[in-house]
Amino acid sequence: MTIACLVLGMAGSGKTTLVQRLASHLSSKDECTYLVNLDPAVTQVPYEPNVDIRDTLNYKDVQVEFQLGPNGAILTALNLFATRIDQLVELLESREEQVDTFVVDTPGQVEVFTWSSSGSIIAESIASSFPTVLLYVVDTPRATKPLTFVSNMIYACSIMYRMQLPLVVVWNKKDLVSTEFAQRWLSDFDTFDEAMQQLEGDYSSNLARSMALAMEEFYRVVSCCSISAVTGEGMDELWSGIQTAANEFATFR
Ligand code: GTP
Repeated sequence: MTIACLVLGMAGSGKTTLVQRLASHLSSKDECTYLVNLDPAVTQVPYEPNVDIRDTLNYKDVQVEFQLGPNGAILTALNLFATRIDQLVELLESREEQVDTFVVDTPGQVEVFTWSSSGSIIAESIASSFPTVLLYVVDTPRATKPLTFVSNMIYACSIMYRMQLPLVVVWNKKDLVSTEFAQRWLSDFDTFDEAMQQLEGDYSSNLARSMALAMEEFYRVVSCCSISAVTGEGMDELWSGIQTAANEFATFR
């Protein structure tokens, strides 16, 4: 079964590094990956994309032609790309026999992809041909702050429900910080509450508490993996998490 992984996450969370790591990890297992870069604004990628949005769209030209700021230009480039999504899907389908996994890198600013029609169109079009899994990459050192932790989880939850696709939360950068706190905060509200005590009285801490309680069902069902995209630690666990999520794909449709 050929599956597709859409790699999403906040700016700097490690999406591009993960795409590279996943490709090299799977290649060491004789699995063939096919890499798609959908970030028109990236200057360099550390992998060789098989399909690159930059080959057909010049982000700087889009910015000048439509008189846009940086984010508007990325969004417009993505919209223009989405108008030809059938060509990408046909190309992927033509590679299905040789490829085990399609890995799609998305723009740095997560909302450009997740809250735009073009992001939905691209995700939906790929998912209509292949079991598709969302990898939501978290910058774990940043998420040690309870408010950032909750923000990330709300984001991941809303993306999962908006896209209606299975999602794996990838706690990245475990070489810099232990990810155990995340497991504790997800499974035991009291430990999260203790961390919040330091912000006692703060309006946002009360809101974060309520949010964390409301998110309990998501916390219970979401699959998580801890990795370091730089060292490769945790990649076997992530790969089996992706396969399990791909097997659950049908239940999301
Ligand atoms: P944008 O697309 O620009 O938003 O970034 P991104 O999400 O693709 O992140 P990228 O892969 O460019 O990584 C951002 C920074 O984090 C780089 O300096 C990476 O080297 C670093 N980084 C990514 N993954 C890891 C990791 O597992 N450990 C460490 N220590 N650094 C990492």
